[in-house]
Amino acid sequence: MRQIKAVFNGNFDSIENIKVSPFSRAYTFSDSVYEVLPFFNKRLIAFESHIERLKRSVDAINIILDSKKVTDEINQLLSSSDFDSGYVYYQVTRGQDLIRSHMYSDQMDVETFGYITPCSFETKKLNVMICEDTRWGRCDIKSTSLLANVLHMNNAKSLSCDEVIMHKDGILTEAGASNLFFISNGNIFTPALTNNILPGITRSILIEALLENGIKVLEGDFNYYELQKATSAWLTSSTKGMAPIENIINIEHSLNLDDSLYMSCKKIFDSKFFI
Ligand code: PDD
Repeated sequence: MRQIKAVFNGNFDSIENIKVSPFSRAYTFSDSVYEVLPFFNKRLIAFESHIERLKRSVDAINIILDSKKVTDEINQLLSSSDFDSGYVYYQVTRGQDLIRSHMYSDQMDVETFGYITPCSFETKKLNVMICEDTRWGRCDIKSTSLLANVLHMNNAKSLSCDEVIMHKDGILTEAGASNLFFISNGNIFTPALTNNILPGITRSILIEALLENGIKVLEGDFNYYELQKATSAWLTSSTKGMAPIENIINIEHSLNLDDSLYMSCKKIFDSKFFI
C-alpha cells in the first residue's frame, strides 16, 4: 500500500499511524475548517493566498492558529514527498471535548491535520447539473461541513454528472467544489462574492490574469437562465484548474468547447497556474 505522508498535531507520520479521538469536534460537529493547497513542479501555487484564506476561516469561527507552524508543516510535507504535482490537504479543528457539547470551552487544544497526495491537473470536460443551493448561510468560510455539497454532488453523480451548479432563489452561486464562469454576448461573467460563495483562490488567479491581459470579468448576480444564452462555461478550483463544461443536463443550452474567448482565457490561465 502506498504510504500517505501526513502530519497530525505537529507529528509527521504515515497516515495509518495517526489516531484521532472520536471526541474530536471535527468528528462530532464538523467544527473545523480546511484548505486544499495545490503544487505543480514542486512549487506551491498561490501559497500565501491559501494561508490567508485559512486565517480568515479560523478567525471566522474563533480558533486561534499559529500560521507559521502551518506554513512550516506544509513545506515539510512537500519537501519530504516524491510527488511533482498534487495538493496538500490541511485541516484545523477546534479540538477534543471530554463530552460532546455544542458549547465549546475556550481552553481547547487546536487539532491540526495535513496530508499530501498527487494530482495530475488534467483538464477534464465536465457534465453538470443545475440544482438548488440548500447550504448554510456562511459558504464563504471554508468549513468541512459539506453535507449539502456531498448530497448534491452524489445526486449529480447518479445522473452521470461530474459537478453541480447551484442557485439560491434562481441566482447562481457556485459549483459543489468549484467556482463558476460563463461567456455570453462576448462578455465573461462570474457570480459576485457573497456569504453564499467560497472566495476561490483559482477564481481570483484567473480574474487577475485576465485583467493583466486586458480582459475584464463582470461580477454580479446572474440568474441560472442566463446559462441558456452562454456560449461557453467553466469551473475553477485548486484541483480542477480551469475545466470546461460540456453539457448541463437539465437546461437547454448551446455551449461550445471551441469558443475563441474561452480558448484565450484558458491559455492565459494555464500560463499563470502551471509554471
Ligand atoms: N474545493 N467553491 C467550493 C464550494 C469549493 O469547495 C472550492 C474548492 C472552490 C474553489 O476554491 P479554490 O479555487 O480556492 O480551490 C469553490 C476544494 C478543491 C476541495 O474542497 O477539495
